[in-house]
Amino acid sequence: MEGKVLRKYLVFLGVSIFCLATLATYNAVAAKAPEYVGVEGCNCHKTEYEEWSKSSHANAFNILLAAGRSRGDNKAMKDAGLDYKKDYDKDPKCLPCHTIGYGKPGGYKDEKSPEHLRGVGCEMCHGAGSEYRVLHKEKDETFTKAEAAAMGEVYPPTKEMCLECHDHPDSPFNSKVDEKYKFDFEEMVKLNKAWHKKYELMFKH
Ligand code: HEC
Ligand code: HEC
Ligand code: HEC
Repeated sequence: MEGKVLRKYLVFLGVSIFCLATLATYNAVAAKAPEYVGVEGCNCHKTEYEEWSKSSHANAFNILLAAGRSRGDNKAMKDAGLDYKKDYDKDPKCLPCHTIGYGKPGGYKDEKSPEHLRGVGCEMCHGAGSEYRVLHKEKDETFTKAEAAAMGEVYPPTKEMCLECHDHPDSPFNSKVDEKYKFDFEEMVKLNKAWHKKYELMFKH
């Protein structure tokens, strides 16, 4: 008699543990890691998008090509010991800082990748967008900054985001090569011609 009760109890316990384990896996799947979506995925912000399109960050892929570089760029290439007559658009040493999410899920892979993954796009300053983009759409007026941050949004962009590229040891244009590449965040973040001006958002978050 007592053995039967115990067995029932053990079965119940087993089933409970199984359910909890399944739930835990489900939750892990539900909180997906954000992937890169490219600039076309962020162009609901029309004004920021249009200004960014004309900025040097948007042009950052083109300067990997000999034909896309200015004389100033060529001089900088020479000073950094690079061949200014050469195209570097397939060089894995250059792509991490001149494309969106190079080699990461959703990001730029190679020349067959969509064009809107070229250049230093929105997500390189604001975080990979697949998850917070959905939140923006579903709860346009009411989402909180904390919710967006939990889904990978970086707002406002931090110094750390910029330093992934600027004055980075892997960059041929860091302050070891020339003092002028020293990155002073407080000053640089004011030069918003390099991306877009500051606009009021439609809703408070
Ligand atoms: C770790 C990031 C990083 C890597 C890797 C990188 N770059 Fe850049 N590149 C930058 C940054 C940041 C700038 C802007 C520097 C500035 O103006 O302060 C830049 C600027 C440039 C410029 C313009 C320089 C000027 O002063 O006019 C050229 C051309 C360029 N990169 C080509 C390349 C090439 C070619 C490679 C590969 C051999 C490469 N980059 C690899 C981050 C990087
Ligand atoms: C080089 C970094 C950088 C890139 C690239 C960039 N932004 Fe921003 N963005 C910023 C900074 C910095 C702010 C914060 C402005 C402030 O608070 O002073 C900002 C603010 C914003 C805001 C808040 C409202 C506003 O206008 O200030 C939106 C929306 C936005 N960015 C969208 C975009 C979109 C869309 C793109 C791409 C088309 C983009 N950003 C590309 C740096 C960047
Ligand atoms: C993914 C790499 C990357 C990130 C992240 C990045 N930048 Fe840049 N930035 C570049 C490259 C490459 C250039 C050069 C583009 C060109 O010359 O066409 C550049 C150019 C600039 C320029 C123009 C420099 C000049 O002399 O005209 C400013 C200003 C700047 N970045 C500021 C920032 C700030 C502030 C942040 C962070 C909020 C940031 N960048 C994030 C790669 C990056």
